[in-house]
Amino acid sequence: MSTATAIAHPNIALVKYWGKRDSALNLPATGSLSMTLDIFPTTTTVSLDEGASGDVLVFNGEQRVDGPAERVTRFLDIVREMAGSTLSARVETVNTVPSAAGLASSASGFAALAVAASAAYGLDLDTRSLSRLARRGSGSASRSVIPGFAIWHAGDSDETSFAEPVAAPDLAMVVAMVEKREKPVSSREAMRRTVLTSPFYPAWVSSTAESLEAAAEACRDGDVERLGRITEVNALRMHALIQSCDPPIRYLSPVSVEIFDRISALRESGVEAWATADAGPNVVILTRPASVDAVTAALDGLAELAVAHPGPAAALVSRAGE
Ligand code: PMV
Repeated sequence: MSTATAIAHPNIALVKYWGKRDSALNLPATGSLSMTLDIFPTTTTVSLDEGASGDVLVFNGEQRVDGPAERVTRFLDIVREMAGSTLSARVETVNTVPSAAGLASSASGFAALAVAASAAYGLDLDTRSLSRLARRGSGSASRSVIPGFAIWHAGDSDETSFAEPVAAPDLAMVVAMVEKREKPVSSREAMRRTVLTSPFYPAWVSSTAESLEAAAEACRDGDVERLGRITEVNALRMHALIQSCDPPIRYLSPVSVEIFDRISALRESGVEAWATADAGPNVVILTRPASVDAVTAALDGLAELAVAHPGPAAALVSRAGE
């Protein structure tokens, strides 16, 4: 029996991915730029099972038979096709993100699954192929394959849509966990609704492409101030866009907004810090490592906080069998 275990970490986008040009292949409308974190790892073991007639998913010790299990099977079907195999698999995954904090757990989850499943099925994939494969499970997972800062090129085909590393200045993130309940509308559904109903969607696509170019340039120049400004503007544009759907969706809560306000006030006092948020109420603050204490002090009492630095690539930790 072939078995492989991999570890991957979540990533937080500074320039966000929101909207697909092809949902079967998970091709995004625009490129994006992110930092892979060094906290909240997902560990996934894939074991091929010759006797089984279907895949099994065990998530944090509990067997799942619902949506997540179907999503894993759809993903394994892609791996099986690549490997020319018909074997079912047992997937055991342990996620250390505080329960349902909505912090890009699909990114670390599908990055770890891409690495473990490709190894268990005997595929020898390079980083680019792993990023393309992870993308098929969840778009943002393409970036969790890469250590530190990554740019996911939108591309226009399966072959051209992948993430790769980008050099960046020394930065840290403070994660403010506002709420731990599951988000009311999945990012998949919310993206679909945005593309179909928001009158602002074309402006989002063109402005994000410009922001990505500017952010990549700021990374290359080590211009923290410019990168931070782009990060906060891009996040607030994404949330404005999402609120402009019909029916509308609002992910930020009053506490999230309070955190954005406190970070803005902190900036006025001379601390370099900028806020961003994914499809949920949690807020992540981009700052310099030396300013982490000032940021955590400013948010004291508002939310549970965790400090992150640039993290490692998704990696295979063990492999056994044929
Ligand atoms: O990859 P998904 O389907 O989980 O979508 C991620 C969307 C955002 O987290 C909001 C933005 C991003 O670029 O990570």
